[in-house]
Amino acid sequence: MASVSLNRVHKTYGSGAQSHHALKGVSLELADGEFIALLGPSGSGKTTLLRTIAGLEDIDDGEIRIGADTVSRANGSSRQHVPPESRQVSVVFQSHALWPHMTVHDNIAFPLRQGDTPVADVARRVQAALAAVELDDLAQRFPGQLSGGQRQRVALARAMVGAPRVLLFDEPLASLDTERIGGPDRGLGPWRNRPAGQPCAAMPRAGQRDDCGVCRWWQCARRHGGRGGG
Ligand SMILES: Nc1ncnc2c1ncn2[C@@H]1O[C@H](COP(=O)(O)OP(=O)(O)OP(=O)(O)O)[C@@H](O)[C@H]1O
Ligand SMILES: [Mg+2]
Repeated sequence: MASVSLNRVHKTYGSGAQSHHALKGVSLELADGEFIALLGPSGSGKTTLLRTIAGLEDIDDGEIRIGADTVSRANGSSRQHVPPESRQVSVVFQSHALWPHMTVHDNIAFPLRQGDTPVADVARRVQAALAAVELDDLAQRFPGQLSGGQRQRVALARAMVGAPRVLLFDEPLASLDTERIGGPDRGLGPWRNRPAGQPCAAMPRAGQRDDCGVCRWWQCARRHGGRGGG
């Protein structure tokens, strides 16, 4: 892990009448190993802040440092932006953003295979990450064959396997909370408790097979065996 420092960071989306000043001079000091939670109303800039630390957004003014490294800096026409892949920062997104066509094992191995990690090390580290989130038995499943909580654990393992300097979570539990809102008689409950073998009536939209929003199985367009089938 590493310290994170933001010094008067500004971020504006768009330009002219459509522009939005999302971060207005944010300063923050996080010590190495420190864990903090950002709270704020919807639209207040939480995701934007995480994205600027990860390098997914550039900044308009100010400076971001990770450990001893300046990773973003903007001052007038002077700009510095270290690309995301060179920051050693992992982000767990609210949607988990797992690759639907890759197994659990391959999703977790993906960041290592993008780098120059030796094959034997990839296998060892993926195994350790799988064990850490207690998913050893599901390594050959695809994300569409997992529960929401299991997907969340895959996303966590994938974020941690590369031993990042900074780990950012953008409300990764939110989808689970939504699931649990639905009791047997309300919300998603009636859908989730439908008889085994009954097809899910909610068809996933084209290109969004990974999450139908009802049963959370991308195979839901097929006939499946209730909550655990496939
Ligand atoms: N790509 C974009 N282009 C233009 N405006 C954007 C863009 N992304 C975010 N915004 C705006 O920036 C503001 C901050 O958005 P952000 O996503 O950081 O909020 P948030 O605090 O994460 O909200 P939530 O709790 O709803 O996730 C919002 O007003 C949003 O509409
Ligand atoms: Mg957000």
